[in-house]
Amino acid sequence: PHHGGPLHSKTNRWVGSAVAAQHLSAEADYKKVLTREFDSVTPENEMKWGTVEAVRGQYDWSGADAIVDYAKKTGKSIRGHTLIWHSQLPDWVADLEAAELKSVVRKHIADEAGRYRGKIRAWDVVNEAFNEDGTRRETVFQTKLGDDYIADAFRLAHAADPKAKLYINDYNIEGLNPKSDATYELVKSLKRKGVPIHGVGIQGHLSLMYDFPQGVKENIKRFADLGVDVAITEMDVRIPLPVTPEKLKAQADYFGNVWDACHAVKRCVEFTTWGFTDRHSWVPDVFPGEDAACLFDENLKPKPAYFRLYGKK
Ligand code: G3I
Repeated sequence: PHHGGPLHSKTNRWVGSAVAAQHLSAEADYKKVLTREFDSVTPENEMKWGTVEAVRGQYDWSGADAIVDYAKKTGKSIRGHTLIWHSQLPDWVADLEAAELKSVVRKHIADEAGRYRGKIRAWDVVNEAFNEDGTRRETVFQTKLGDDYIADAFRLAHAADPKAKLYINDYNIEGLNPKSDATYELVKSLKRKGVPIHGVGIQGHLSLMYDFPQGVKENIKRFADLGVDVAITEMDVRIPLPVTPEKLKAQADYFGNVWDACHAVKRCVEFTTWGFTDRHSWVPDVFPGEDAACLFDENLKPKPAYFRLYGKK
């Protein structure tokens, strides 16, 4: 079922990008390059709880539907993002007490995963559940519902869309460290309990301000050895400004090293980048002084990182 963009002819992984519905409808060149280069799409914000139900009981599926419709027309696979996350969570949810929170979580997962049943290849069911030291992040879900909120979310998502591959997703779990250790232990215990979890999503938000993470290939392999798939779900590499030819080369190496690590493990099935053009980016808002994290520049010209992937495999 692979669409087969230029990168795809070099790999048998899904090659994807995050996409924003707004740009897809407003910018013909954005749509053209996305359609040409990638065979999977992940809605950047359109499927988050804060987008689909900002006000209790008032649903807005317009952005999500637009992307699902685009994917259908162009033959793209879809990664759903994300059912349970503490961020971009509407205040009305965060304010509920435990029993009611539990029931709206059930309803939210049933509604959203059910609406797109059969259309989503993989869901990021739970996003960013751990702190850097490997303890559970104290989100409203963790604090009010306890440790089992994660297993419950996977069971509910599976009931709503039995064919979708269900992932736990996080950042800073590319290499071997306390956070990836905790993710590993969680997946192991969920598998042992028979919870329907099928994959680990490694976001891959890297920056040239930091060394390339240690043990990426070993880490991907240990996840796969638990009997789950692995996906690189949100890869980008931030450059501390100004951009120079040397930094573009270093960026290409960071992208290429993750690409190679994914290709070294059979069960690493997807390589998705968090957007594809430097024209649009979440980076400068969150990391002032860094930017240019994508494979294509603001004029949609492929950068050295693109050719690093294109030249391999
Ligand atoms: O929709 C409102 C708009 O109405 C308003 O006028 C505008 C003014 O600021 O804000 C708009 O919302 C913004 C939204 O993106 C849509 O553009 C939010 O402020 C902004 O916070 C939000 O940022 C998103 C961020 O997640 C939120 O945490 C980024 O676009 C998105 O790329 C980013 O993606 C996350 C993944 O979901 C999870 N992993 C990390 C990744 C990068 O942070």
